[in-house]
Amino acid sequence: MIETAQAFGIDIGGSGIKGAPVDMNIGDIAEPRQKILTPEVSTPDAVGKVVKEMLDRFEVPDSMPVGIAFPAPIRPGKALNFMANLDKSWLGVDVQKALSDSVGRHVDVVNDADAAGLAEVQFGAAKGENGFVIATTLGTGSGSAMIYNGVLIPNSELGHLTLKGDDAEHYAAASVRENQNLGYKKWAKRLTRYYHMLETYFNPDLFVVGGGVSRMSDRFIPQIEIETPIVPAKLRNQAGIVGAAYHAMIHQD
Ligand code: BGC
Repeated sequence: MIETAQAFGIDIGGSGIKGAPVDMNIGDIAEPRQKILTPEVSTPDAVGKVVKEMLDRFEVPDSMPVGIAFPAPIRPGKALNFMANLDKSWLGVDVQKALSDSVGRHVDVVNDADAAGLAEVQFGAAKGENGFVIATTLGTGSGSAMIYNGVLIPNSELGHLTLKGDDAEHYAAASVRENQNLGYKKWAKRLTRYYHMLETYFNPDLFVVGGGVSRMSDRFIPQIEIETPIVPAKLRNQAGIVGAAYHAMIHQD
């Protein structure tokens, strides 16, 4: 394992599981990340095996904090009660315990959008921003992180608010744009409705837009017509990894 890293981050997504060592001094990955496809049937066992393989590939030392970003609300010690985009057999499982058991060591698990939001506030687009930041991720699903004066209010799940009679993530996630072949202009109209709803109910000071699609932000963010400042994530696709590693580091007992 590379010497400049102080923690290891893994981001579990609907299509891929990505991992890399993280250098907290620069708030970025310390060596190129690796990606393993998410098992088609993404049960706790199958995903646990991939997480173990990732730690083995990088020869992560037992003493190094390991953080895992997971696409569902996470309450360590409690059973998972909501799962949108991985296998439903996760329901009822204590995710942090299950993944720790799979790899044979303690791992710290945090919601993926919360991880990404923390990374953006700590190191990225919302660094130094006081007040209320809502960081969103647009990917397979649509995640959210609420951060007030640097403190995370976890598990917000704003992507599941109802918009146009359906789950907002079924209307505005990046996967919807791809599956329905929407142009960026049309998609930006949907995003305007989504972010307008969020600003109406939550009145944040800043929105950060993350997820893989944030690298194309020039094509849609300027077309989102809302009052609140809205900026692309800086850590782009690495935010989940960096944020999970950061969360693990600050939650060491
Ligand atoms: C999940 C969230 C997650 C988001 C992004 C949603 O479907 O409910 O927990 O943060 O997808 O992966």
